[in-house]
Amino acid sequence: MLIRPAAEADLPAVKAIYDQQVLTGTATFDLEPPPVDYWRARLTSTEPGDHLLVAVEDDTADHGVLGYAYSAAYRTRPAYSRTREISVYLAAEAVGRGLGRSLYDELLARLAADGVHTVLAVIATPNPASEALHRACGFERVGLLPEVGHKFGRWIDTAFWALVLEPWQQTSGSGRIPG
Ligand SMILES: CC(C)(COP(=O)(O)OP(=O)(O)OC[C@H]1O[C@@H](n2cnc3c(N)ncnc32)[C@H](O)[C@@H]1OP(=O)(O)O)[C@@H](O)C(=O)NCCC(=O)NCCS
Repeated sequence: MLIRPAAEADLPAVKAIYDQQVLTGTATFDLEPPPVDYWRARLTSTEPGDHLLVAVEDDTADHGVLGYAYSAAYRTRPAYSRTREISVYLAAEAVGRGLGRSLYDELLARLAADGVHTVLAVIATPNPASEALHRACGFERVGLLPEVGHKFGRWIDTAFWALVLEPWQQTSGSGRIPG
């Protein structure tokens, strides 16, 4: 198993993994599968802190994508530029094998190297696997938005989870701003 940046050839598999959750799950509030261009925009973004990573079984095969994780702007106003929102989705047959953790470990390392300060995740509740993954990676639940989603005939809450990558900066008072 390998974690690497996604390539154009991975996009149909990434889309298929997400589309399955769109149509059957509440982890995402999309109601219709987005077009492949939605994923291509994540792939081609040149903004610092934007990544689309895939976990692949065998890098020589073109059908081996088991899951993906991405980071993107939380909000576009410039003062948010060192905050990123992240997410992760696996194929149904790939859950529970540590792939979510492997994808996030690689993604968080890249975000730290980019100088990202705060990482956010928005988790529709309940989602025990996602909550456990984020907790294991050091995230804390910092807020709940009640009944903001409506899918499959019911109201769904979302929880905000946050990880500050540079806690030293808050206590050091040095004012250092990395690159
Ligand atoms: C959420 C998801 C990515 C987790 O990935 P995963 O590879 O199954 O998780 P891992 O095997 O890396 O486990 C990470 C941690 O979560 C725990 N965990 C995983 N699944 C769990 C579950 N169903 N219940 C409780 N804990 C769970 C593991 O024990 C591990 O904790 P540890 O490090 O303290 O031992 C995966 O379940 C998934 O793709 N779900 C559908 C899409 C989704 O909900 N995405 C998140 C959107 S916010």
